[in-house]
Amino acid sequence: MANQSLGALTWWRKWAKKNWAIAAVGFSVAVFLFPFISNSWRGVDSNVNQPFDGSHSIDANLVDLTLLHNAKDRGALCLDGSPAGYHFQKGFGSGSNNWLLHIEVFTSFPSKSILNPLGSSKYMERQVPFSGILSRDPAQNPDFFTWNKVKIRYCDGASFAGHPESENGTGLFFRGQLIWEALMDELLSLGLSSAKQALLSGCSAGGLASLIHCDDFPKFLPKDATVKCLSDAGFFLDEKDVLGNQVIGSFYHDVVQLQGVAKSLHKDCIARMEPHKAGFILLLCLFPREIIKNIKTPVFLVNPAYDFWQIQNILVPEASDPHHSWQNCRLNIDKCNPSQIATLQGFRSSLLEALGEFQKSKEGGMFINSCFVHCQAWMPSTWHSPKSPRINNKTIAESVGDWFFNRNIVKQIDCPYPCNPTCHNLDFT
Ligand SMILES: *[C@@H]1O[C@H](CO)[C@@H](O)[C@H](O)[C@H]1NC(C)=O
Ligand SMILES: *[C@@H]1O[C@H](CO)[C@@H](O)[C@H](O)[C@H]1NC(C)=O
Repeated sequence: MANQSLGALTWWRKWAKKNWAIAAVGFSVAVFLFPFISNSWRGVDSNVNQPFDGSHSIDANLVDLTLLHNAKDRGALCLDGSPAGYHFQKGFGSGSNNWLLHIEVFTSFPSKSILNPLGSSKYMERQVPFSGILSRDPAQNPDFFTWNKVKIRYCDGASFAGHPESENGTGLFFRGQLIWEALMDELLSLGLSSAKQALLSGCSAGGLASLIHCDDFPKFLPKDATVKCLSDAGFFLDEKDVLGNQVIGSFYHDVVQLQGVAKSLHKDCIARMEPHKAGFILLLCLFPREIIKNIKTPVFLVNPAYDFWQIQNILVPEASDPHHSWQNCRLNIDKCNPSQIATLQGFRSSLLEALGEFQKSKEGGMFINSCFVHCQAWMPSTWHSPKSPRINNKTIAESVGDWFFNRNIVKQIDCPYPCNPTCHNLDFT
């Protein structure tokens, strides 16, 4: 068993540089998220098509893709060299000067090459529905429905933290940091420059990006603006897999090396690691556990304790289960045996332990529910609906709103699986 997985790991590390870049796109969950997306996509369809204002009109709230206007000049390019893009919907009424940015890892397109929406704007949907946290329907999005909203398309493979100096020889474009800067300038010209309140959010690798850029974001905004960050399913743990291998650790290591990510990491975190200076140490500053120790901007963490992406890719990657004893469990939490459940509870404990200090912070907020899901902010069925997952009878939308507007201190931690009947655990079997 150990031999086989070692073999797998060696093979994994022998990959050519270019394959790593492609894997980095995979890190954007294109491959793994597909069944989930296609399922939830149907869910979203039926939800966003509900009447918007009590009338019988259908409001899918589709928003056009905009390619960055000066992408070529600014070098703001996706992995394949196509211009980066975003979707923008103008705010109204009391939300005219408020901005919600959401970095979304979204695709309905399964692919292992960079020729997909997570590596190229050529393949991005020209219109996407704005739902959940991006919805303009007060019933679906009670606190932010009037705000200006931007869905930022993820196409750089490294959470907007790549640098072109590392492109050499790959035939790919590592422009994450340049995309981020060009995008900020374009949004400033659209009105972000007079923002009164702003929330930088994102899911999965986009949730990680929102943490990486959290302290940088307020620098673009007026000094008196209220600025906060939300990471949805972006709290990746540096845990070993079930065989004791550092799969996610080596993966992150290679993404950091490949794309020159260190330059975009939090300076204070890097400085904290400096005395140790071992090769892999800067890598720790790419893990939220360390990032949140240095962020000064208020942060809210939404994360399921049994995040299926982390279970399927960090705790039990396919290659770490050669005898398929985890096959059912990693696809459906209700099919885990008692010893597997114990392992999952250990994973949850690691998450709570990583959040220990943060939990004591005054300005931080969290919603750690015990569901087998991944991103929860952009789907109406998980963000805010009569059937949404709740902790202490609050939906995620209500909890985030309470935190953003200082209505309440929000440190919601669910009881362990299977105690919460409001979860909709996903089933990939
Ligand atoms: C870039 O690639 C060329 C040719 O492969 C090589 O000679 C050069 O040393 C590389 N430069 C860097 C900075 O890696
Ligand atoms: C839960 O909240 C809803 C409103 O969101 C309310 O109608 C209901 O009475 C609450 N239930 C409990 C048990 O407090």
